[in-house]
Amino acid sequence: MKNVSVIGAGTMGNGIAHVFAQKGFKVNLIDTQNEAMEKAINTISKNLDRQISKGTITADNKASTLQNITCFTSIELGVKEADLAIEAATENSAVKKTIFSTIDQYAPAACILASNTSSISIAQLASATQRPGKVIGMHFMNPVPVMKLVEIINGAETASEVTETIVTLTKILDKIPCVVKDFPGFIANRILMPMINEAIHALSEGVSDAATIDQIMKLGMAHPMGPLQLADYIGLDVCKNILIIMQEGFNNNKYAPCPLLIQMVDAGKLGIKSGEGFYKY
Ligand SMILES: NC(=O)c1ccc[n+]([C@@H]2O[C@H](COP(=O)([O-])OP(=O)(O)OC[C@H]3O[C@@H](n4cnc5c(N)ncnc54)[C@H](O)[C@@H]3O)[C@@H](O)[C@H]2O)c1
Repeated sequence: MKNVSVIGAGTMGNGIAHVFAQKGFKVNLIDTQNEAMEKAINTISKNLDRQISKGTITADNKASTLQNITCFTSIELGVKEADLAIEAATENSAVKKTIFSTIDQYAPAACILASNTSSISIAQLASATQRPGKVIGMHFMNPVPVMKLVEIINGAETASEVTETIVTLTKILDKIPCVVKDFPGFIANRILMPMINEAIHALSEGVSDAATIDQIMKLGMAHPMGPLQLADYIGLDVCKNILIIMQEGFNNNKYAPCPLLIQMVDAGKLGIKSGEGFYKY
């Protein structure tokens, strides 16, 4: 496996491109927005600088990593030679299904199609393609260059050789694969998002302020980051979308996003990426 196409150059797409390019893969980074692409390359460059200053890579490693990344604005051109295409676009099943169907049309027949989705059914994405056996979930954690876990999700029709290939590939990236079944939110977000949502409920009920809620979870549960700070980091729009997908997927209102979360997203307060969420950046 040599050529990897990453579709979506946002928070996650740039991190995924970073780790593959650093391991010598040729990466095509694809986004419909030129602005997102420019921001992604800047972020990758800054994150590589941080690795240089920590002494984990050299300036030569940085140059070769950046050289391994080519930007595209069209999926048609960007996946033509892909051995693996990883979709990391907006958490919306209609958007993702259109992307999967386009990749399926233009990528080589042997190409594996992975999604970085946090919660959307892999079987549903696979149904938009003619190769459901080659569709799998490859859920990286944020920030991708730092976090070790990759949650690997088998869809109903994912072939066992495809799972084995993705498990091996995850290890080549120096990450740790955990294989799970295709249920809404899988494991990571099924457990994380209700905690974040509950913290937002507590904030909206005035039980305490954001900094105190976060401090309690950091000091009391030894979490490195409080739930509200983490929500800002993930993106409040992403959190809202994941909760809605779990609410619909389980047909259970216990996952319904807190009205305060919905209001903040409507007001454009998306967390770090928009400059304001539960905190100002
Ligand atoms: N943010 C996190 O902490 C996190 C963690 C794990 C997984 N995820 C998942 O990763 C995926 C991406 O999330 P993100 O936080 O990077 O989102 P983001 O909003 O930062 O980036 C999404 C990018 O996708 C692009 N895009 C949208 N439609 C496209 C299309 N048709 N073709 C090409 N590009 C398109 C957008 O222009 C944008 O740049 C989502 O499925 C999300 O659930 C997010």
